[in-house]
Amino acid sequence: MNESAVYGEYVSSSPEETLLLGEKIGGLLGPGSIVTLKGTLGAGKTVLAAGIARALGISGQITSPTYTIINEYGNKTPLYHIDAYRLAGDEDFRLAGAEELLYGKGVCIIEWPERLSLLPQDKVFKVEIVIREDGKRKILYKNG
Ligand SMILES: Nc1ncnc2c1ncn2[C@@H]1O[C@H](COP(=O)(O)OP(=O)(O)O)[C@@H](O)[C@H]1O
Ligand SMILES: [Mg+2]
Repeated sequence: MNESAVYGEYVSSSPEETLLLGEKIGGLLGPGSIVTLKGTLGAGKTVLAAGIARALGISGQITSPTYTIINEYGNKTPLYHIDAYRLAGDEDFRLAGAEELLYGKGVCIIEWPERLSLLPQDKVFKVEIVIREDGKRKILYKNG
């Protein structure tokens, strides 16, 4: 990703639209990219992650890493889908072996980044999904 700031706000009316936005975001990523996904349970973080995976050429089902903590999808650019929901903080994240992945050659997607303070904020592509009253999702995204 280059220096130019990417900032946007999008309203998604369906899981398919969220998947497509994820695919667009995925197209901006490359080796070493980190994406954080904020949003309440059921907001659509894993749906968006599946769109990113599709953009990276990963076929097949993306499943929630809530219980596995890290799901790895092998590809030319590997994808690490990490869920920090069940982690107490940085120390747990390190013990899970996730910290080194942030500085590797893959793309990292991290759900529940608010559990952590060790993320290199300046190189993170941040996404936040808010469930609106009408059920649509407001999706904010910003790099750096
Ligand atoms: N606009 C939307 N975008 C994403 N998901 C949506 C949308 N509308 C409804 N949904 C539903 O909300 C749920 C989101 O689930 P998931 O992606 O697992 O949430 P999270 O990972 O944030 O807990 C899915 O069941 C999906 O079908
Ligand atoms: Mg999820």
